[in-house]
Amino acid sequence: AVPGAAPQPPRSGSLTQVRVEAPGKVNLFLSAGVPGPDGYHPLTTVFQAVRLIETVTARRQAADLRGTITLTLAEPDPTVPTDATNLAVRAAALLAETTGVGDGVDLLLRKRVPVAGGMAGGSADAAAALVACNALWGTALTQAELSGLAAELGADVPFPLHGATAVGHGRGDRLTPLLARGTYHWVFATSAQGLSTPAVFRRFDELTPVAAAPADVPAALTAALRDGDTAALAAALHNDLQPAALDLRPQLAEVIALAESAGALRAIVSGSGPTIAALAPDPTTAAAVANALNASGLVAGALRADAPIAGARMVG
Ligand code: C5P
Repeated sequence: AVPGAAPQPPRSGSLTQVRVEAPGKVNLFLSAGVPGPDGYHPLTTVFQAVRLIETVTARRQAADLRGTITLTLAEPDPTVPTDATNLAVRAAALLAETTGVGDGVDLLLRKRVPVAGGMAGGSADAAAALVACNALWGTALTQAELSGLAAELGADVPFPLHGATAVGHGRGDRLTPLLARGTYHWVFATSAQGLSTPAVFRRFDELTPVAAAPADVPAALTAALRDGDTAALAAALHNDLQPAALDLRPQLAEVIALAESAGALRAIVSGSGPTIAALAPDPTTAAAVANALNASGLVAGALRADAPIAGARMVG
């Protein structure tokens, strides 16, 4: 891809529609340092892709619309913008600008990751849109080139492109794959109201007066994943943003306590929250934890999902 390449005429690719799935994520570990001049916090984080799937279907447009990028939600949701601010629209626009393609596209978005929940649902939409438009338009960027565009769109966008389990450095966008054996059974407790990621990082700064560099991934966590040892993984889960998220939403502490009393090995804030991620030892216990959360009235919902799963991929 050559940034700023001269616009090219519409291509006559054979595809008229491409469907791509991309996963949400949970952070198994997150350590944040002092923000740099760009306002971003240097991170060490471990991402795991979970089976909560965003689906983007990219379709060629009618001749009269050609050149525009439009987005429709499969299910109406007033909290998700459908204009040019939507990260999937921005992803398609960035790919078009980078490659000089002027075809335009209609994006149909089906969401299953909680909105503004700390699970990178919007980032998954952007990753899916990149893969879908790259195929629809025949632009043939490599995975590495797409990953570069993903990092321009947001710190959390490269991971849903990659999937599986990976360490993130820098803003969280520089990924290294991590070996993870086995399947992990998660329950995600959602909140009716999202939390703003910048607001959580600001509170983290207020609560963390002593300057420090982000910690390394603990050896116990790497070993737990390598061995497929769920109990050891549960013991090693850590999120530096949790005190900030709990400070902004004190009632999340009750959700964590309830999930653990219902059988979860551990429950933590997912990313910048407010979703609570509870790790269960097996599918039966996961069902019991989900039932207890749903019955409590403390949460908007409880979603079960296993992990890890693949990154953004074409399914049709
Ligand atoms: O890159 P993205 O748009 O996803 O980040 C959203 C916001 O989260 C940033 O504007 C910044 O306030 C905060 N952030 C941060 N450090 C990171 C990642 C995100 O402070 N490593």
